[in-house]
Amino acid sequence: MFSPQGPSLRELTVQALSSVERGYDLLAPKFDHTPFRTPDFLLDATIEALGGFGPFRDGLDVCCGTGAGVRVLRQLCPDRVTGVDFSTGMLTQARSVHPGATWVRADARALPFTAGFDVAVTFGALGHFLPAERPAVFAGVFRALRPGGLFAFPLGAAAPVTSVAHWAALGFDAVMRVRNALWRPPFVMYYRTTPLRAVRDDLSAAGFAVRLVPLALPGVRVQLLVARKPPASS
Ligand SMILES: C[S@@+](CC[C@H](N)C(=O)[O-])C[C@H]1O[C@@H](n2cnc3c(N)ncnc32)[C@H](O)[C@@H]1O
Repeated sequence: MFSPQGPSLRELTVQALSSVERGYDLLAPKFDHTPFRTPDFLLDATIEALGGFGPFRDGLDVCCGTGAGVRVLRQLCPDRVTGVDFSTGMLTQARSVHPGATWVRADARALPFTAGFDVAVTFGALGHFLPAERPAVFAGVFRALRPGGLFAFPLGAAAPVTSVAHWAALGFDAVMRVRNALWRPPFVMYYRTTPLRAVRDDLSAAGFAVRLVPLALPGVRVQLLVARKPPASS
């Protein structure tokens, strides 16, 4: 599927019938040859947009996978760059590509960091969290940041009802709901559970001040959501 180096249909099916963690462990060696890896053009646009918010020293990539966000942070953070993910397979791949970064195996719903980073990013992973789980993820990122720290990630606008993308996302989510009703362990991945308003509300409830920043990507309906932890009161 996707390319000669990508996973076969059979491999993808086995992965989709596993847990999220096990599924990514299995997919890890071929993950960079799938469309699930965040594309470079989006990473580059994020680097450009975030450049004006620095300076940063230490950066955290949440649900880092094979290290797409670490590639962004290495451009922005001269000191320490850390990737966190719960898939050992994905972390092994990431470590081989970016040996200079720090890699931590942890669940993003219970991040083990306190006030250690100036900037955190996440790419392509919010659909793995049910809406009820999002507050724990955002609270963990808030805790991980230093006062004044920034949490940023791209978020696509809802596709128009008349578009193929709208119906593809609807169909995908419907298939996943049926799969998860019939099969254990669940594989949580939904495209339509992260609407802008709900994500914004959850970030605000976690304590962030939120704004949207346009990305230099003509014709692409994606914005950068930038959430700032308040500076320490003097
Ligand atoms: C679609 S991949 C995205 C990887 C990478 N950020 C990128 O954009 O290419 C989603 C990643 O989220 C990780 N993930 C999903 N749920 C997680 C959780 N609860 N805790 C930590 N990592 C999680 C998976 O292991 C996987 O590496």
